[in-house]
Amino acid sequence: MKPEEWSQRYREGRTGWDIGGCPPELAPFIASLPPARNVLIPGCGKGHEVAAFREAGHSVVAVDYAEGAVEAARRNLAEYADCVRLADFFDESALPPAAFDICYERTFLCAIPVKWRRDFARRVDTLLRPGGRLAGLFLYGDPEPDGPPFPLSGNERGSLLGARFTLLHSRPTGSSFKPLPEAREFWEVWQKPSA
Ligand SMILES: C[S@@+](CC[C@H](N)C(=O)[O-])C[C@H]1O[C@@H](n2cnc3c(N)ncnc32)[C@H](O)[C@@H]1O
Repeated sequence: MKPEEWSQRYREGRTGWDIGGCPPELAPFIASLPPARNVLIPGCGKGHEVAAFREAGHSVVAVDYAEGAVEAARRNLAEYADCVRLADFFDESALPPAAFDICYERTFLCAIPVKWRRDFARRVDTLLRPGGRLAGLFLYGDPEPDGPPFPLSGNERGSLLGARFTLLHSRPTGSSFKPLPEAREFWEVWQKPSA
């Protein structure tokens, strides 16, 4: 979908993926972090998680390329609105390389076209510091030609993410988001190798 199409959805309130807050898996993860991490949230939508990371003392850059999403996030976040930037995650000039300790994922990877997935993995690799982590919710299931969402196949765990990162943790969620009968959401933490 193009940025204007996403914007339209936010402006019309057609945001079925939005659970109105943070998934329950996020709080224990944030509690486990060392202080003052730099967190990146690509495709942030309304950005509920921004406040959770900020309230725990972390710095956050949240990006979305849809103006409607950025407007909604800034309204939603009030005092943390300045964390949200209008930017394309795949624009090489939009974000500094090797600057982030955490990249948080929720319904962004499954929202982008399948052909961009390798670029997603490469971008995350570029943006994380050595030892940094990609953490969040990942949707796995059968191929879905009519997405988004486009679930990842089980094989992509290894071929897409496993090729660059080490899987530290994977467990099925209670499913905050169940858009497709066969798809299953997992809380996962992947780590970039230390230098
Ligand atoms: C399904 S929504 C998920 C929003 C949010 N992560 C959540 O869980 O509610 C996908 C979001 O990714 C954004 N998006 C898609 N492609 C993008 C890109 N290349 N750069 C930045 N944002 C993008 C869309 O505008 C949309 O807000």
